[in-house]
Amino acid sequence: MTTTHSEVPHAKRLGSAPAADDLSPAERMSVDELRAVQLERLQWTLRHAYENVPCYRRKFDEAGVHPDDCRSLEDLAKFPYTTKADLRENYPFGMFAVPQQEVRRIHASSGTTGKPTVAGYTADDIDTWATVMARSIFAAGGRPGHKVHVAYGYGLFTGGLGAHYGVEKLGATVIPASGGMTARQVQIITDFRPEIIMVTPSYMLTLLDEFERQGIDPRTSSLRVGIFGAEPWTERMRAEIEERMDLDAVDIYGLSEVMGPGVAQECAETKDGLHVWEDHFYPEVIDPVDENVLAEGETGELLFTSLTKQAMPVIRYRTRDLTALRPGTARPSYRRMDKVTGRSDDMIILRGVNVFPTQIEEIVLGTPGLAPHFQLRLTRKDRMDHLTVLAEARADTPAERRVPAALEIAARVKDGVGVSVGVEVLDPDTLERSVGKMRRVIDQRPRD
Ligand code: DLL
Repeated sequence: MTTTHSEVPHAKRLGSAPAADDLSPAERMSVDELRAVQLERLQWTLRHAYENVPCYRRKFDEAGVHPDDCRSLEDLAKFPYTTKADLRENYPFGMFAVPQQEVRRIHASSGTTGKPTVAGYTADDIDTWATVMARSIFAAGGRPGHKVHVAYGYGLFTGGLGAHYGVEKLGATVIPASGGMTARQVQIITDFRPEIIMVTPSYMLTLLDEFERQGIDPRTSSLRVGIFGAEPWTERMRAEIEERMDLDAVDIYGLSEVMGPGVAQECAETKDGLHVWEDHFYPEVIDPVDENVLAEGETGELLFTSLTKQAMPVIRYRTRDLTALRPGTARPSYRRMDKVTGRSDDMIILRGVNVFPTQIEEIVLGTPGLAPHFQLRLTRKDRMDHLTVLAEARADTPAERRVPAALEIAARVKDGVGVSVGVEVLDPDTLERSVGKMRRVIDQRPRD
């Protein structure tokens, strides 16, 4: 197996499209070269998983497939899916494909219920991760010599350390702020003058409020690029942050089971969806109901097969994230995925209608007089589920604007989403603020 590690690009102007020869060799591969690399790595991965992980051996045997049956990339469709349930049944280390002594690091993501999902990395895996993260930060406009403020949480969560190693690999300077202590973060940003911030979009809003609370105009800050991910966010949120902060906001995607952040990244020069680094992570999109593989442009559930991971290979892992694949643009050989606007388990089914928090986000952020903070409260009365949108007035919004704003939201949710909801417009600064991933839905329904 060959992995490219000589990926550190050269400095150019922030935000400008890089010249072709500034890109790493991996990013310059033709589609044919990329497909050949993928097939070779896929065959290696299937064998590695089959030979070293009892769960994969059992699943392949039950499905009547063997790694030797994979002669083309299309053959992957014959292999069984991996789900979160497989990971949970093999908690904590049963999905690892290498001996414990070769595992250099463990991360875990706290699920909403039950046990965390565990991920393990060899030294080579950590290097691959740093490589795709460096590539992601470069695609966002980062260059060697920049200072990067990392406000993703450090710890078992993959955000902080994943970003950290990528910044170092790029040859930039990392400021490992982690999440929390918001007032101090603003001071550090003001004093250290980073060009780039990596943070969840919801925590960016908390930071923006704190800039204003300290009497600092966020537009005067040194920040020129924000690399936002770990949770869904909309084009309206991009516009809000770009306007208030005067920076380029780009999207980064990833998940612990597959690696962490850096599985896919939006390029600053196009901002048209996220290029999947598919020399390491092979994407498919399936119809979540009939499980058929969907064509480019069709929206369904995103699946990943790792192509180079040693400690914890994943085969056709069902992310539950909903998106569509599209042809590459700024990196022509690499397919893009649409911004993930929801995952199947975030979806609220309200009286038979599917509601995603991002649909509400678009509406709240498009309603004059409201702050960009919101939460959704689910309650049950007379055996019927009720959804209340909790929004917040901006500090300068006159009191008489609140009722019309609430009515506007209710009407636009009814028209656009197709359900009746309650709306409460609260005083400024009353809703819970994010320090990492924002909890959008408060479910107060009694458990049956
Ligand atoms: O959130 C990894 C990450 C850290 C990505 C920092 C980007 C930046 P997990 O905690 O395992 O890993 O959560 C993964 O978060 O399946 C998506 O549902 C969601 N998610 C991640 N990035 C995005 C994004 C990290 N850009 C889960 N847009 C994924 C929408 C995202 N959802």
